[in-house]
Amino acid sequence: MNYSEAKEKLAKYGQEHALGYYDELTEDQQEELLAQIEHLDFSPIHYIKDRDELPARGVFEDLGAMELDEIEARKQEFLATGLDAIRHTKVGAVLLAGGMGTRLGSDNPKCMYDIGITKHVYIMQRLIENLMDVVNAASEGQDHTVWVPLFIMTSDKNHEATTGFMKEHDYFGYNKDMVFFFKQEMAPATDYEGKVYLEEKYRIASSPNGNGGWFVSMDRAGLLDKIHELGVEWLNCFSVDNVLQRMADPVFVGATIESGAAAGAKVVKKAAPDEKVGAMCLEDGKPSIIEYYDMTPELMAAKNEKGDPAFNFGVILNYLFRVADLERIMNDRFPLHIVEKKIPYMAKDGTYVKPEKPNGYKFESLVLDMIHQLDSCLPFEVRREYEFAPIKNKTGIDSVESARELCRQNGIEL
Ligand code: UTP
Repeated sequence: MNYSEAKEKLAKYGQEHALGYYDELTEDQQEELLAQIEHLDFSPIHYIKDRDELPARGVFEDLGAMELDEIEARKQEFLATGLDAIRHTKVGAVLLAGGMGTRLGSDNPKCMYDIGITKHVYIMQRLIENLMDVVNAASEGQDHTVWVPLFIMTSDKNHEATTGFMKEHDYFGYNKDMVFFFKQEMAPATDYEGKVYLEEKYRIASSPNGNGGWFVSMDRAGLLDKIHELGVEWLNCFSVDNVLQRMADPVFVGATIESGAAAGAKVVKKAAPDEKVGAMCLEDGKPSIIEYYDMTPELMAAKNEKGDPAFNFGVILNYLFRVADLERIMNDRFPLHIVEKKIPYMAKDGTYVKPEKPNGYKFESLVLDMIHQLDSCLPFEVRREYEFAPIKNKTGIDSVESARELCRQNGIEL
């Protein structure tokens, strides 16, 4: 893209100021800026002002869940089905690690965060240790080690650091030939008026475009071919920040396969009706997730026919998707989320500012919206005290402190 084409593209979206320093830049910097302008999609920005054009939510109904007692009663059956699928490499794990972790506020990617006290216990190490439990269980009685292919999504912001960290730690004992990295797309970040921030005179502030684009990004990286080559039929995607995360859990895999559903979602009983987790539900008759900020007092008070609170199962960002269904929906349009965040930027005097408070918007698509594109999803209950220790903040709720306490309760040495 040349200068006048870039100017024309920016003008269409009211962002000409991004070329404000063009004449001061070196040739390389000019090229970098023009390439970024060519690549970035500015079309979502107008929704800041035209929010009423975003699709409205539908009618919510309770979906319930497969609860602990039923899972316990059928555990051996599910386990056998799940292990069989894992042994045939039909299950891959997808670590969504492209986020910026702004609430935690570390300069390094979240997976590098060390929650250890007497020794190093990195978040990535915890995740690999949990996945190794599955590898060991599936390998028992086999004449070879059964590896679960592990796909790791990063972004431009943390790719080098994440891949370097894994190499430096020798993949924490995982089989590096079964680890596949791919990068997600970026989206521009704006101030409250919808003007893109500049990070440098030659770079527009951009951030990862949410965790909802993971399958498309995997495909762009050529990994769909790898998935077919390996014979992977199910992909279990999960967040980086839950240090008790159980991925490729054979019982969950078995239950989802046997249910015949297109997907499964691990859920926990909500701690309180207003807990800040998305709740599994039906929306206009299709599986869906109500974000906590969409929970009205009526929805919080609603009861199901058993008299229990409806919308009582919260998602923990651990979903199992059937690959064939992902391929079918991958070109669908997903809802856009305009999220208020802290966006580092270059001030008028040229200094780099790392704001203490949110100062604008990022544009994201979310993995939970993929569930609503499917015809069926099995909500699968797990015990939160065994499987849910998210690290979003340094202290308080969902923090390093609370996750350490949950690790201790689960006998994990820190
Ligand atoms: P969060 O919603 O916690 O977002 O991500 P975040 O960006 O990591 O953190 P904050 O909100 O800035 O503090 C939930 C999961 O989705 C991944 C994260 O890495 C985490 O595993 N994610 C999020 C991505 O992979 N890409 C994104 O663009 C956003």
